[in-house]
Amino acid sequence: MLKGKKILLGITGSIAAYKAAYLVRYLVKEGAEVKVIMTASAKDFVSPLTLSTLSRNPVLTELFDEQSWSNHVMLGRWADVMLIAPLSCNTLAKMANGICDNLLLAVYLSATCPVAIAPAMDEDMWHHPATKENLAKLSSFGNEIIPVERGELASGLFGEGRMAEPETIIGFLKNNFFLTSPLKGKKAMVTAGPTYEPIDPVRYIGNHSSGKMGIAIAKELQRRGAAVSLVMGPSPVNVLSNGIEVTRVTTAEEMFTACNRLFASADIAVMAAAVADYTALEKAKEKIKKKDDKLTLELVRTKDILKSLGEKKKKEQVLVGFALETNNERENAMEKLKSKNADLIVLNSVKDEGAGFGHDTNKITIFGKGGSEFQFPLKSKNEVARDIVDTIIKLYYA
Ligand code: CTP
Repeated sequence: MLKGKKILLGITGSIAAYKAAYLVRYLVKEGAEVKVIMTASAKDFVSPLTLSTLSRNPVLTELFDEQSWSNHVMLGRWADVMLIAPLSCNTLAKMANGICDNLLLAVYLSATCPVAIAPAMDEDMWHHPATKENLAKLSSFGNEIIPVERGELASGLFGEGRMAEPETIIGFLKNNFFLTSPLKGKKAMVTAGPTYEPIDPVRYIGNHSSGKMGIAIAKELQRRGAAVSLVMGPSPVNVLSNGIEVTRVTTAEEMFTACNRLFASADIAVMAAAVADYTALEKAKEKIKKKDDKLTLELVRTKDILKSLGEKKKKEQVLVGFALETNNERENAMEKLKSKNADLIVLNSVKDEGAGFGHDTNKITIFGKGGSEFQFPLKSKNEVARDIVDTIIKLYYA
């Protein structure tokens, strides 16, 4: 899977840098082409000679080196993936803030290839809010974070913060960047986020959906080769498009129009948005002033987007709906599968701790048309997205 793949490995100053030697060794053994960039302090932990010998390429360290100066842009273009392992707290903070005072940072800032990072630090640093904020920033830039592990730390303490083992890092690279593309040539559309239904120029009816689940599904479909369109409600979560076509909408009616336009040419549609079921019958032109003790708003049903697509669905199209339930979860999900003519319904119960709106985790069960049922444990939304897309591939594209 890694044969002929070009990996640019950035190494920073951390005791875990010794593991970078194994990492290079394993990558080369798998047939990857590896170029190594080191920061000055990384050289205190592992020798450039070791890494140039193992990678069979000269190790790059100097920003103003005659050879590497012109290279800092080209290196990011050369690589299929830039991997920074170990990533120290210091370099993490610089990356989050766009600081460019060494070759590794110059390459990172100009890299056009995907970037993965494997942080390594002591537990207390790992838990500092500044570290969390810096990691969240990198994640919002679209960088992939390889989870740290628990274990013995350089301080002699035991806890979280150890860099992932080289085998785990290689598995992560394979899973995240070098999967086969079973959905190549397919078009997918995904809805995400809430809808806002205006009451007057300053107020609306909305819900707490963040859109994270839908965004994760859109990214996963793209990773597996599909051309993806995302119809996104008004969530503050930023979507870094990276080739995903994003249509921003506000109301259920706008989402309905966008979805019906896209569905005509879609092979797969995943409806993860939390669409408002009701909208105000009349939207006041001016701000509604307070008068009486009670105010009654008259609401009317919005169009059911999933149902409307289910009615039009052609045999070869795969339609996936979501069901967010608080009670009678199974029955309600099965009923939605039928009434909306979907192929799959993804059930998440708000009763399950860590599942549903606002969380970074979710717990799902997928119900299929022919009575099939797939249960999954509580996982991160990215992993849940992988389970959903894997199920679609297994059932329809294997
Ligand atoms: N959905 C939709 N259009 C709507 C309402 C819901 O397309 N106007 C879709 C959602 O995106 C989701 C599925 O329908 O994929 C189920 O949404 P949910 O809110 O759980 O169910 P509803 O059909 O709205 O039924 P109820 O609220 O009564 O449970």
